[in-house]
Amino acid sequence: MTGPESEGPQVRRAVCPGSFDPITNGHLDIISRASRLYDEVYVAVMINKSKKGLFEIDERIDLIRQVTAEYGNVRVEAFHGLLVDFCKQREIPAIVKGLRAVSDFDYELQMAQMNNGLSGVETLFVPTNPTYSFLSSSLVKEVATWGGDVSHLVPPLVLEALGERLRQG
Ligand code: PNS
Repeated sequence: MTGPESEGPQVRRAVCPGSFDPITNGHLDIISRASRLYDEVYVAVMINKSKKGLFEIDERIDLIRQVTAEYGNVRVEAFHGLLVDFCKQREIPAIVKGLRAVSDFDYELQMAQMNNGLSGVETLFVPTNPTYSFLSSSLVKEVATWGGDVSHLVPPLVLEALGERLRQG
C-alpha cells in the first residue's frame, strides 16, 4: 500500500501560542474553534523573562487547563525560545491565530512569513468573533484594575483570579 493509508492514521495537530496573562473569552473562542478543526491542540504559553506579568506562568497554565478541560483535546504547555522549535519538537505543522482587526494583520503576517521561512510551519488565521474584536488581556487588566466590569470578557474562574490578584495589590 502506498500513500497516507500505509502510514496509519495521522494525528492533526495545531498550536495556539500567546502570553495569556490572563486567558480571555477571545482566546477561548479561538482555542475552542481550533479544537473542533484539529485532533490535538496545544496552547503554548510564552515565557518572557524580561516582562513580569500579572500572573506567573504556572498560574496562567492552571487557569487555561481548567477553562479548556471540557474540549478534551487541548494540551497546555509553557515554552521559551522560538515557536517553530516548540512546533518541531512536537510535530505540529500549523499555528492558529485569531485576527481581531486589520491592525493585527501587519505584524501577524510578518511572523507567519518568518515562521514559514524558518521551518515550513503554516499559520492559519481565524477571524475573531466580532463580540471580542476589541478584547485583549492588557485592556482586561487595565479595566479590572480601576474597578470596571470585565465579567463578560473572561471566564468566571479568571474573573475570580483577577479579583484576588488585584486585591493583593
Ligand atoms: O499573546 P502575545 O503576547 O501577542 O503572543 C505573542 C507570541 C507568543 C505568539 C509571539 O511573540 C511568539 O511567537 N513568540 C515566540 C518567539 C518567536 O518564535 N519569535 C519569532 C516570531 S516570528
